[in-house]
Amino acid sequence: MVKKKNIRVHVIHGPNLNMLGKREPAIYGIKALEEIDADLKNRANSLGISLETFQSNHEGEIIEKIHDIFNTKSNGLIINPAAFTHTSIAIRDALTLLDIPIIEVHLSNIYKREEFRHKSMLADIVTGQITGLGSLGYTLALNAIAEDINGK
Ligand code: DQA
Repeated sequence: MVKKKNIRVHVIHGPNLNMLGKREPAIYGIKALEEIDADLKNRANSLGISLETFQSNHEGEIIEKIHDIFNTKSNGLIINPAAFTHTSIAIRDALTLLDIPIIEVHLSNIYKREEFRHKSMLADIVTGQITGLGSLGYTLALNAIAEDINGK
């Protein structure tokens, strides 16, 4: 259980992740995004964390969400930018605004896949990266943020 009160953690899911469960299930699994978010919210509750999830297929909306997170209180961010991972300097630049733990999560192991997925624009500015563990990656990311908050 996290000691401090009013702990808020944000989750951002990038493009096409709203299609989880239907989209290439052999790669991304059979769980829908709603299930992943619900499981994560349960886990957050048990840790005393209030979790806010957001999904968008639009780069600008993701950037604006990061600005909102900057402008309001947040204790940590879990982000799966999906395909924008490999292309978006703009999302990278927005994330450099944040002075909180940021965990980059990928359901699939991006280093085992096509070469264009091996490069993450965020890898060197995030706190850590979890790749290839499916939806468990989000839970592990939440645990890592909770540990970080507990340690302070
Ligand atoms: C992904 C990996 C990306 O390369 C891909 O574009 C995605 C999902 C993952 O979670 O494995 O959409 O971020």
